Amino acid sequence: MSEDINKQYYSGPDGNSPFRGLGGLLRENIKNLTPYSSARDEYQGEASVFLDANENAFGSPLEQQYNRYPDPLQYNVKKRLSEIKGVPIRNIFLGNGSDEAIDILFRSFCNPGIDNVILVPPTYGMYQVSANINDIEARKVLLTEDFQLDMEGIAEAIDKNTKLIFICSPNNPTGNSINRDDVETLLANFNGIVVVDEAYINFSRQKTFIQELTEYANLVVLQTLSKAWGLAGLRVGMAFASEEIIEVMNKVKPPYNMNEASQQLALQALQNVDQVNAWIKETLTQRDQLVLNLKKFDFVVDIYPSDANFILVKTTDAKGIYNFLVEKGIIVRDRSKVELCEGSLRITVGTPDENEILINTLQNFK
Ligand SMILES: Cc1ncc(COP(=O)(O)O)c(C=O)c1O
Repeated sequence: MSEDINKQYYSGPDGNSPFRGLGGLLRENIKNLTPYSSARDEYQGEASVFLDANENAFGSPLEQQYNRYPDPLQYNVKKRLSEIKGVPIRNIFLGNGSDEAIDILFRSFCNPGIDNVILVPPTYGMYQVSANINDIEARKVLLTEDFQLDMEGIAEAIDKNTKLIFICSPNNPTGNSINRDDVETLLANFNGIVVVDEAYINFSRQKTFIQELTEYANLVVLQTLSKAWGLAGLRVGMAFASEEIIEVMNKVKPPYNMNEASQQLALQALQNVDQVNAWIKETLTQRDQLVLNLKKFDFVVDIYPSDANFILVKTTDAKGIYNFLVEKGIIVRDRSKVELCEGSLRITVGTPDENEILINTLQNFK
């Protein structure tokens, strides 16, 4: 660890966290931003005639009525999430998918052309894309051979302009969880924000970092309703963080970032915890079965341990298998061009029928 250079930004002088609040991290323009004030924000009390937002007062040409703008801060959905997650509403941000939360973190904290973020590939591709869109340097510190954090490499890559570190756990595309102690070391020693993306946490044996929010003021946990909750089409992503960080994200987001249909349907879906838990259980059983069946093929070199609803499978001929499956109408993800994933395909666990079709089809791959 290059202690002398990085001490100020990475390691607390007396073992205490060097994180000193958001003051020095926020972009100046965001610190001074007056957020958009929506029509409904500007009155107090009860009202029954709304002539303030230029909506169509007659209704919508649909059975359901969507002629009114939705709640900008999605109170009802957050209230239900707060019950499920055990996190106060003030610590929850909702986005149009967690991809929106990722983008908002860049826009809030990173000065284009000046600041940088740390990425630890192979990992989820949107961190790099969001960095590129926002003109932010992404410093890449490759995971180790066993897909864990290179802690020395990360310490060396951090400098005074490093604002965010993205850790995906369980990690996409490798499927494993990142060692908890390492993430805590980063949280305790980095004076920027550590984003822990838990898109696949419902499938994991590891516990969520949400419970650490009271411990670390520089923690942002991302989760989504797109995976275990089966609502990818609704685009509902969550960020959990300190009240200070959530306030910034709410200021920067577009006023009506989650539409009324998504809010209503998400709220309805969030009553069905038992159904989702049953699917998670079934997915894990199917994952184990899929691994057993895939291991029998001689073109399968290795299957990496997974804490998610997909597996990374190292093969002798990723491109050949991929093309063969496409011809048969089965789509998996070819990750063979990704560093440390050479020869590998990422396969999502499907229904029992889908998994059987996959295995039966692969019997015919020569
Ligand atoms: C690690 C990770 N984070 C975030 C996302 C995006 O989630 P959302 O659908 O909420 O935008 C994905 C989607 O594949 C993902 O794999």
